[in-house]
Amino acid sequence: MSRNLTQLELLIELEPVVERELNRHLSTAKNWHPHDYVPWGEGRNYAAMGGADWEPEQSRLSEVARAAMVVNLLTEDNLPSYHREIAEGFSRDGAWGTWVGRWTAEENRHGITMRDYLVVTRGVDPVALEHARMAHMTKGADTPAAWDADTNALYGLAYVTFQELATRVSHRNTGKVCDDPIADKMLQRIAADENLHMVFYRNMCEAALELTPDQALEAISMIVRRFRMPGVGMPDFRRKAALIAKHGIYDPRQHLDDVVMPVLKKWNIFGRTDFGPRGEQCREELGAFVEQLDRDAARFEERRDRILMAEAARRLAAETGDSGRG
Ligand SMILES: [Fe+2]
Ligand SMILES: [Fe+2]
Repeated sequence: MSRNLTQLELLIELEPVVERELNRHLSTAKNWHPHDYVPWGEGRNYAAMGGADWEPEQSRLSEVARAAMVVNLLTEDNLPSYHREIAEGFSRDGAWGTWVGRWTAEENRHGITMRDYLVVTRGVDPVALEHARMAHMTKGADTPAAWDADTNALYGLAYVTFQELATRVSHRNTGKVCDDPIADKMLQRIAADENLHMVFYRNMCEAALELTPDQALEAISMIVRRFRMPGVGMPDFRRKAALIAKHGIYDPRQHLDDVVMPVLKKWNIFGRTDFGPRGEQCREELGAFVEQLDRDAARFEERRDRILMAEAARRLAAETGDSGRG
């Protein structure tokens, strides 16, 4: 039976892979600038500077777009939580440390750009946004360390692989519902970064699967089974997440088909022949879990279709002046 590597052994064994992936990332990543994605000409002073404070009618974003923007921005705002987690769960030395620093600096651009866009265009209430940021950052993000999960590097690598891809999907689809080419372009730019981050972490996990298959799969399986978006716990998260799912920005089907399965396929989890008994058991648990996710997603879609159809019928009835009661 294969022995589990210690945290130190994992970090040492994977260091050459971090170095390779870091170099690959640096040669692929685009050096972009937040100010290029914000329509500064639309800005004007708020009351404290002699202008007018925010009013709801100033926003050109729908309720759904506002909810998604705020959830995505607050998620980005909690960067110090993620930084703490990866700095502690990986290492601050050598290539690991260089990656932690570089990744943190790239992530910080996302929050900067989105906040500038929202404040300049008056997309959301800046006072409510600031209160939510204070509350969310004070509490910290919902990440594996906060779940009392095992915190060796494998759990962190598995979590961020799925989380980066989930964030990519969410940003991309938020851009679409904003119905504003500027927001769409900005969120496409950010989503492209998240994709590169995902590739880095996915390649790291792939190397970990080669290095210590059972141990790596144990971490992956636990992370997939317990996965939660990092925004869980932010103010008003349940209502906003429900809107986000209802309008196809991030829903259970997308979670399964666009996030979980592509990564598991890339790692060839269900085709590998190098697992021992412990790995085989994890694979079985994971397979059963994925099937359950599929059933849950189908149920969610049916319920959503019914709700959306009923809402459309009510809207039509209201437009034609027909109350539906004869
Ligand atoms: Fe980000
Ligand atoms: Fe990212």
